[in-house]
Amino acid sequence: MSNKDLDIRPFMDMPVSEFRKYGHQLVDWIADYLNEIEKYPVLSQVNPGDIFNRIPDVPPEKGEDIENVLHDVDKILMEGITHWNHPGFMAYFNSTSSGPGILAELLTAGLGINGMLWKTSPAFTEIEKAMMNWFRQIVGLPENYWGIIYDTASTSSMHAIASAREQLGLGFREKGMAGRNNIPKLTIYYSEQAHSSIDKAAVTLGIGLEGIRKIPVNKNYEMIPDELESAIEDDLSNGYAPFCVVATVGTTSTTSVDPVELISEICEKYNLWLHVDAAYAGVTAMIPEMKWITKGWESADSIVINPHKWMFTPMDLSIYFTRKPEILKQAFSLTPEYLKTNRDDEVENLMDYGIQLGRRFRSLKLWFVIRYFGVEGLAERIKYHIELAQELAGWIDDEKDFKRMAPVPFSTVCFRYNPGNKAEEELNTLNEKLLETINASGKIFLSHTKLNEKFVIRLTIGSIRHQRKHIVEAWELIKECAGKVK
Ligand SMILES: Cc1ncc(COP(=O)(O)O)c(C=O)c1O
Repeated sequence: MSNKDLDIRPFMDMPVSEFRKYGHQLVDWIADYLNEIEKYPVLSQVNPGDIFNRIPDVPPEKGEDIENVLHDVDKILMEGITHWNHPGFMAYFNSTSSGPGILAELLTAGLGINGMLWKTSPAFTEIEKAMMNWFRQIVGLPENYWGIIYDTASTSSMHAIASAREQLGLGFREKGMAGRNNIPKLTIYYSEQAHSSIDKAAVTLGIGLEGIRKIPVNKNYEMIPDELESAIEDDLSNGYAPFCVVATVGTTSTTSVDPVELISEICEKYNLWLHVDAAYAGVTAMIPEMKWITKGWESADSIVINPHKWMFTPMDLSIYFTRKPEILKQAFSLTPEYLKTNRDDEVENLMDYGIQLGRRFRSLKLWFVIRYFGVEGLAERIKYHIELAQELAGWIDDEKDFKRMAPVPFSTVCFRYNPGNKAEEELNTLNEKLLETINASGKIFLSHTKLNEKFVIRLTIGSIRHQRKHIVEAWELIKECAGKVK
């Protein structure tokens, strides 16, 4: 038979030889990039539109050589990249990618599998299950916690609050929320310092901004349990229906830790779902000295921890643990005929536990990262970051023109430039200018927050490439820039 009879067409995928050649080239490129990353300014210096304007307005009619495309990575893309893997990146919570994590991402794309059902790749579901079992032990949670991987903490927390709503048994799944006059006004509670993803989840789930109660914090930015209880009491006496509390372990601005154990007692008393947002700080539970952060976790209904924030796992990977997977399933499981399989009675189909059908093979990254570094290796690295942050906090405390603005339980330091005899407003402007000057240097990238209306600079240590010298140099640069701002 000729190729014509077989209908073998000449326009299939990239030839294997070409894939192999450019695959090797690209891996070399990534290796060099990571090795020489400090030659780039950490924060991209482009203006809005600069990258867009370099891309032709219309797509190419004919295919191009992959060589041209790769060439444009350097020519077009790199200037518009803010380098999260750069050790000068100390803004936000600086997720970094480690070698094994990057290799796992490559393999994920190569395999190209979709783990919506057990049958659509048994290894997918079973590696995820095994990794959840490992990770549960790594952070010291009891066996009754069941875990699943989502993309981000925002998604994990949305599923937590959806479960809390489902647990009420008010028939939302069947009847919805709109137009029903027998539905009480639901209220959810979290501290003023909780992450905005919780507000978004409440908005998405029909709780509405008016159903949110932001509980005051103490001077260390931790939720005040008495304030929580009186807000619940107030709402109950005014006909509202409290249903969920979110406690944060490692808040975004200052990394403060809410008193989970006391909060859990209140949740128990009022029969409320307790979700713990430990997106950033949860990984520190693997360090024996940091075990204190898990106090009260065993009473939580759900917990989120993000390895993509501080466990050297490339974006994205968020772990959601719950003691009540059956409620999650009740809220989200829905199987059309075309997704039924002959193994459904024997297996877990992960599509049943969330809004998405298609699922990326994220657990592969965990498998690679945990095996390559080992739990000890991961804990050592994270502990080193905490020690560096303590050291920086000490330098700030010793400098009379700087002030530390919050305790440092983990690896994030909040501070401001505080030369004497300046009004609050002036200090805010001064620190804003200082941050701009620091970031314009291209050497480090810091972020900011506001605490009690005070503009505060945040520095986070958490990159797998962070060495003590980077923190020493960052501190020298901060002081040098402070000398320049007026
Ligand atoms: C405490 C906390 N929760 C949730 C989030 C949201 O994380 P994600 O980007 O994974 O949705 C963040 C992000 O920084 C955070 O700090």
